[in-house]
Amino acid sequence: MTATTRVNDGIAVITVDNPPVNSMSLAARQGIVAGMEQALADASVKAIVLTGRGKSFCAGAEIKEFNTPAAFAEPSLATVIDLIENSSKPVVAAINGTAMGGGLELALGCHYRVAIAGASIALPEVKLGILPGAGGTQRLPRVVGVELALNMIVSGTPVPSQMLAKTALFDRMVDGAGADAAVDGAIAFAKEIAEKRPLPKVRDIKVDFPLHEAFFAFARNTVNAVAKNYPAPKKCVDAVEAAVTKRFDDGMAFERACFIELVSTPESKALRHAFFGERAASKIPDVPEDTPTRAIRSAAVIGAGTMGGGIAMNFANAGIPVKVLELKQEALDKGLGTVRKNYENTMKKGKLTQEKFDQRVGLISGTTDYADIADADIVVEAVFEEMGVKEAVFKKLDEVMKPGAILASNTSTLDVDKIAEFTKRPQDVIGTHFFSPANVMKLLEIVRGEKTGKDVLATTMGLSKKLKKTGVVSGVCDGFIGNRMIEQYSRQAGFLLEEGALPEQVDRAVEKFGFAMGPFRMGDLAGNDIGYAIRKRRYVEKPDMVYSRTADLLVEMGRHGQKTGAGWYDYKPGNRAAIPNEQVDAMIVDESKRLGIERRKISDEEIVQRLVFALANEGAQILDEGIAQRASDIDMVYLTGYGFPIYRGGPMCYADTVGLQKVVATMAKFAKGPNAERQGKAWVPAPLLQKLATEGKSFS
Ligand code: 3HC
Ligand code: NAI
Repeated sequence: MTATTRVNDGIAVITVDNPPVNSMSLAARQGIVAGMEQALADASVKAIVLTGRGKSFCAGAEIKEFNTPAAFAEPSLATVIDLIENSSKPVVAAINGTAMGGGLELALGCHYRVAIAGASIALPEVKLGILPGAGGTQRLPRVVGVELALNMIVSGTPVPSQMLAKTALFDRMVDGAGADAAVDGAIAFAKEIAEKRPLPKVRDIKVDFPLHEAFFAFARNTVNAVAKNYPAPKKCVDAVEAAVTKRFDDGMAFERACFIELVSTPESKALRHAFFGERAASKIPDVPEDTPTRAIRSAAVIGAGTMGGGIAMNFANAGIPVKVLELKQEALDKGLGTVRKNYENTMKKGKLTQEKFDQRVGLISGTTDYADIADADIVVEAVFEEMGVKEAVFKKLDEVMKPGAILASNTSTLDVDKIAEFTKRPQDVIGTHFFSPANVMKLLEIVRGEKTGKDVLATTMGLSKKLKKTGVVSGVCDGFIGNRMIEQYSRQAGFLLEEGALPEQVDRAVEKFGFAMGPFRMGDLAGNDIGYAIRKRRYVEKPDMVYSRTADLLVEMGRHGQKTGAGWYDYKPGNRAAIPNEQVDAMIVDESKRLGIERRKISDEEIVQRLVFALANEGAQILDEGIAQRASDIDMVYLTGYGFPIYRGGPMCYADTVGLQKVVATMAKFAKGPNAERQGKAWVPAPLLQKLATEGKSFS
């Protein structure tokens, strides 16, 4: 049963019981209707209490039902709310916890609302690319005021119930915590008001908001400036304005029309894909949720460079004491100095209190002696990307670390299985691939070695949550999921230069598509010398893989990127604005000449397709090889680590949106392009992509 009804002493209590969050699935809606009908038919019932089982009142509509017939099947959420609002007996919502989206709308349809403190109240639909579709935009302004309602609806941010205690949203706050306290309080309240008539309805509250035109003009400007490629926030403003300017029923019809329009947009589908993708990524089929884990109470980091410092900050931010080891005191001082400066900058921006600063800096200490880190529960190695250096470190760790310590490597490309073999405890070795800057970027690729223990994997997944990262499991291969794919993307960017594009055109096209940064601006930020070093290794290991020489020539011109003030672009000191450089453009044109390629005008559409389809094709290969567990994991890597536009859902989701048949057909066209021969197998569809396209299927 997804809702149960019990009657006691004149009060019917309807409890939604649809774990884990009491979402409004068709069955849950049917359950409430059945409860209402029973309560209305029972002459002994004087009032009705509506609540949810466990920690959630109701987290809203059942998102998985969107775009399926179940979403509109009767009783719809609107029908349920109408039934409650028009009930001849008073209905009291007992808000025992999370009341979000359709859950809050359900409560707003009740005649009264009673809540415990600490319940999370929100209309978060905007985060899924939609707006509240069951009266939220019309009823919330009537109880909390237009300004606060607009803020809540446009941001989707949860507000603790106690902060809304003084608004008309709640008729009573009750003491105590948990579902029982809420229900007991609501029953007591229901008994007090059982005979009171007429029954109050939120729809009848007048919205009085003088000067609304100026307010909404300002709100619209502000929202348009931030929302850019997201249609939902703009519609939220329109709908809340309708609550002020239209009659209630007309406002409801307007909200409904906006909801129906938004729920079918690719942006909403992509945001919902990301919502479920993030949750799916934490699941590993052969590592069940009850797998035993190891306690992580202390940590160590080897290397205090770019990554080591950032990784240490992650531990400190999560309250875990961390020791950073360098071989030389000077390097250690420099690294810890940078960490301190980072925290100071955050404090200067007002994003960190002095108390938190002291706490976090106090959790990080340095050492040059391995004996000092021996009892850490986890050690993350972040030394130079050279197998020889990693070998020395892991042999040492094997020697000194206590039994049961997790030995993690932050390598971005090297073979984690080989690294594990440097120890006598390969089951304790795992890859934790943080992204730069490690204290900011959400992605953590968790590299599962052939012998990595299940408990080590489960512990590391749990740790990633504690560090507020999106952990995605990857198998072992060169570059893992993200960097292996980005290589194909970067290769295409190079080929496009040879064929007629210039860096700023490629970057502009990709940024217009929605990427945070185009490939060349990104290269300048990360340092072009890093890619150069990786390619030099690849020229030996994979001689068949052809790259455009332009990126190598750039580094040979001494243009390493922002750090040298010059890369694909010029940079003025202290300014990140990228200024095109004539010598770079001339070098590119000369390279085309050397290759005998007649430069042509390349459309922005081709630029985007070549870069993004190259990602999706490699992603398909990675999926087929079992390196990634599911297509949505690949998307999460790109959404959280590579600046792929969230409203496009990631490369695999985007390929699905375009249609895999069309992707394969476009790749076939590229395979016949004038410079295609140099690109090797770039446009040969991965077998999985070809298979899905032929069968008319999609990655999801
Ligand atoms: N529909 C379907 N599934 C939902 C859901 C929903 N509304 N909300 C959460 N879930 C699922 C999650 O996918 C997850 O499933 P899994 O166990 O299979 O991975 C499970 O519930 C638990 O979710 P979390 O892991 O996120 O649990 P937390 O305790 O961390 O967070 C939460 C709970 C705050 C409720 C969070 O899940 C959340 O923010 N949910 C989304 C709420 C939302 O957006 N509501 C609006 C829906 S749209 C709507 O109501 C339209 C209406 O206006 C008509
Ligand atoms: P870095 O050069 O900034 O720092 C490396 C640090 O390790 C230096 O401070 C060095 O003194 C120290 N070190 C070297 N050998 C050591 C040893 N034997 N014992 C103790 N300390 C030693 O390098 P960075 O960029 O921090 O990279 C570290 C690792 O992280 C590499 O494996 C790299 O591939 C990986 N990585 C780097 C990313 C980046 O964007 N820089 C992103 C993700 C992973």
